[in-house]
Amino acid sequence: MALKDKVLEILEENRGRSVSGNKIAASLGMTRSAVWKAVKQLREEGYTISAVTNRGYCLTSDNDILNEPSIISFLETEALGRKMDIFKTVDSTNSFAKSLAQLGAVHGHCVIAETQTDGRGRQGKKFHSPNNQGVYVSVIVRPRLSVEYALTITSCAAVAVAEAIEKVSGLECGIKWVNDIYAGGKKLCGILTEAAIDVEQGGLEYAVIGIGINVSNTIFPKEIENIATSIRAETGSSVNRSQLIAEVLNCLERRLNNITSQDFIDEYRRRSILIGRTIEVTQGDVTRTVVCTGIDSFGKLLIKNEKGEEEALSGGTVRFPGEE
Ligand code: BTN
Repeated sequence: MALKDKVLEILEENRGRSVSGNKIAASLGMTRSAVWKAVKQLREEGYTISAVTNRGYCLTSDNDILNEPSIISFLETEALGRKMDIFKTVDSTNSFAKSLAQLGAVHGHCVIAETQTDGRGRQGKKFHSPNNQGVYVSVIVRPRLSVEYALTITSCAAVAVAEAIEKVSGLECGIKWVNDIYAGGKKLCGILTEAAIDVEQGGLEYAVIGIGINVSNTIFPKEIENIATSIRAETGSSVNRSQLIAEVLNCLERRLNNITSQDFIDEYRRRSILIGRTIEVTQGDVTRTVVCTGIDSFGKLLIKNEKGEEEALSGGTVRFPGEE
């Protein structure tokens, strides 16, 4: 670990409090002037570190640059996030995580970025990923699951992410099937799960759960400005993104560890913004207007079709009539 990262670790542990240069120097076995140099470097990276004579250095509480010590300080997991790569910029955290998974990355390894140049959404769409304004994280998981249960990972993740956002921001979150998180009638977060099946064992080899949360965006590109929102746009204030990432991982680990109990389905149903409503379902190039009657225990969308018959759908996209 570079010296400046060791200094950052100590400042993060004491976020909002001053630590004397002498104390930092002694605990890292370095000189006070080396500490000062490290602080200077950290400031150049954008950290706000105050220096008060006789009191020392203080990383102010409003710092929101993503770094490992700050995420770890909020982490309560056993595996998720215990190994992580954080990038200033990457094409897509999912693409990077998939390559790592193929090379054998461990269960829980996370890839995080401040911005993505080619953030990917479902169905080949792009995911708008502006610098420092969101959370873009991909989690590699390797739970031992049959394909049937593996297919529920994405709904399970939606519940966990909704719980995490709510816990950190107080914002009430709904879920639009399959796994979009909604607040105030607009999309706040998207999830893209990509998985590999172990053909010989007949189960899941790994899944990459990619989560994109709009945190402090106030301006969106024209094509999504009427359908997208952010935590700041809904609540008037932002949140600490390191805390949000850690809470996503805390909630995700808890939910994934119990995935086969299917307990998450009740919470999914409670948060569903579709149940009881008339919706338009598109599968391939066919769009039908149907009524959503529920979610089954494997996360399939239950609908009453044009003929009044019940169907269970495992794929497709959903819109409300008149929605863009
Ligand atoms: C969707 O809304 O269709 C899914 C969006 C998923 C976006 C996240 S951001 C982190 C991860 N990396 C990606 O390229 N995509 C996912």
